[in-house]
Amino acid sequence: MATAQFRLENAWHPIARDEGGGFVVTLVNLSAETIADFKLAYTSLTRVGDAPACGNAAFLRRNANFHQYAPPAGLSLAPGRSWRFTVEGLLRPARHRTDGAKSAYLTLADGSHHAVEVGDLMLEGRHSEPAPQLLPEGEVREPFSILPWPAKASLTAGDTIPVALHPAAGATLDELRAIDTVLSLFQRLYSVAHVPFALAPVHEGRVLRFARQDGVAPSGYELTFAADAVKLRYGDAAGLQYGLTVLAQLLHGARTKPDTFRFPASGMILDAPRYGWRGCHLDVSRQFYPVADVKRLIDILAWFRMNTFHWHLTDDEAWRLEIKAFPELTTVGVLRGPDEPLLPQLGNGAEPVGGFYTQEQAREVVAHAAALAIEVVPEIDIPGHSTAALAALPDLIDGQEAPDSYRSVQGYPNNALNPAIERTYEFLGKVFDEMVAIFPSKLIHIGGDEVAANTWMASPLARSLMEREGIEGTFGLQSYFMKRIQGMLADRGRSLAGWDEVSHGGGVDPAGTLLMAWQKPEVGLELAKQGYDVVMTPGQAYYLDMVQASEWQEPGASWAGTVPPHHTYTYEAVGEFPEALKPRMRGVQACIWSEHFLNRDYFNHLVFPRLPAVAEAAWTPAEGKDWLRFAAIVRLSPRY
Ligand code: ACM
Repeated sequence: MATAQFRLENAWHPIARDEGGGFVVTLVNLSAETIADFKLAYTSLTRVGDAPACGNAAFLRRNANFHQYAPPAGLSLAPGRSWRFTVEGLLRPARHRTDGAKSAYLTLADGSHHAVEVGDLMLEGRHSEPAPQLLPEGEVREPFSILPWPAKASLTAGDTIPVALHPAAGATLDELRAIDTVLSLFQRLYSVAHVPFALAPVHEGRVLRFARQDGVAPSGYELTFAADAVKLRYGDAAGLQYGLTVLAQLLHGARTKPDTFRFPASGMILDAPRYGWRGCHLDVSRQFYPVADVKRLIDILAWFRMNTFHWHLTDDEAWRLEIKAFPELTTVGVLRGPDEPLLPQLGNGAEPVGGFYTQEQAREVVAHAAALAIEVVPEIDIPGHSTAALAALPDLIDGQEAPDSYRSVQGYPNNALNPAIERTYEFLGKVFDEMVAIFPSKLIHIGGDEVAANTWMASPLARSLMEREGIEGTFGLQSYFMKRIQGMLADRGRSLAGWDEVSHGGGVDPAGTLLMAWQKPEVGLELAKQGYDVVMTPGQAYYLDMVQASEWQEPGASWAGTVPPHHTYTYEAVGEFPEALKPRMRGVQACIWSEHFLNRDYFNHLVFPRLPAVAEAAWTPAEGKDWLRFAAIVRLSPRY
């Protein structure tokens, strides 16, 4: 393999008079050539303001987290030599080693782009604390590896482990298929482990008897263990699947860690979920996840008896869903590269990167999830977070609006669809037509988050709409837009889901609307009071991209604070909800935002053990939660 030709080192240091502190950036020329007259670009979530003070460099431009600099005129860099420069005027301080450059590349005078390897952000002037251990060994009082822990379990431990469970004669086709589904799931997640089930009788196996009964709670199941057989009672297909999944977990734990876990010899499990919405979101815009990876996450959700996959398909950084009426969305709207309308961001370098889902692939994901009792709720994030859509379809822009008249919190200029342009609704109507033919979910999530203050205020078309309709300000316009979107979804038999800011500026009709409380927990209660159904996804507990400890060397984002696994696990999202409003709280959801997820190792480090922690919070009654038990069992989790 060729060695790198260039490497970028970067360090952050505090500055007494400037909270943002400063960067020291060093480019090392490892190539055999002297370079001169070049530009350096890097992507960093710690961004510079509009006029950063640079030492030994000139600042050229920034777009969101893309930054570009040039060396002083005449500088040339011989093989083995370094160019070092300083940058001050950062918009916020760096707090962790992942807060600096995620990627970089060089552009030479001939326009060619060259890869630059990047190291961790170092800390200068303060101690760089190593990442701590995040999970205790844990301990179990009852030696059974079930996660989420069931509502009620009264079990005695056996001394033997059945080789496999096999159905009694007379099992129905649906029951045989359910075994096959969970067995295949198990084999995908633990491909080397011994199988938990067989469809034919097994020597030293144990018989599995089924009983479908009306009295069992929705998604619930009952397991009765005896020396000669296991009995599974269920009321619906999800309950049947969950009972089988728990049996697979019990067998797998007993086989994998026999010192800690056993298979039950006798006793019962009576179980049903605490919440109807046990969700996980995945942002596939900031980083692309191939279909096989999306399916793998869905498999993991099924293993933890979660039932909702919220697929965040579009954002500023890319539009990932094929829309046949607008092919530009998944050509121009996905490709990020040095010479593309969308510049490299969040770990992209010299090579353009793209990726999108064809409609056939999206249907394949929906079918994969449905077979595991998981509903896919698709999201297109509008009206904000729409840089990619606007790059692909520039005729949706008000040509008279001043460029860079507002910026999103992520630093994107003029990134919102314009509510005063009728083509916006024609575009979205066609998008919804195609989405409803792919996604059977009653809910279509339309985002609605983080429309920046002042958005559209420099658009003459928006101004005249405000005057005509008597609309006040950005959020009045947002509400006007959202109400129209809600009507368009209703025309297609669907209801609106969105982030909590959908309620701003007058909001929408709460009937049938579900909003996700992400900004802080109190927002959830406020939305419920306004009549919205609520799913709790507060960043402070359930955003899995947040750092898990405050130490510098721990990776992740920190704008919502530090989110240790213990906090994610013990957090009670229902919090202060009064009894009368509790039914409005439909459940809880983990969110996987992908800015920091440059590869599978980052994904695994940040998502586990917090995803199973959210799963247990979604399923297990508050009084049944036990952090040390969870810590012991969660070690058996499949990895992504
Ligand atoms: C969000 O985190 N902007 C929903």
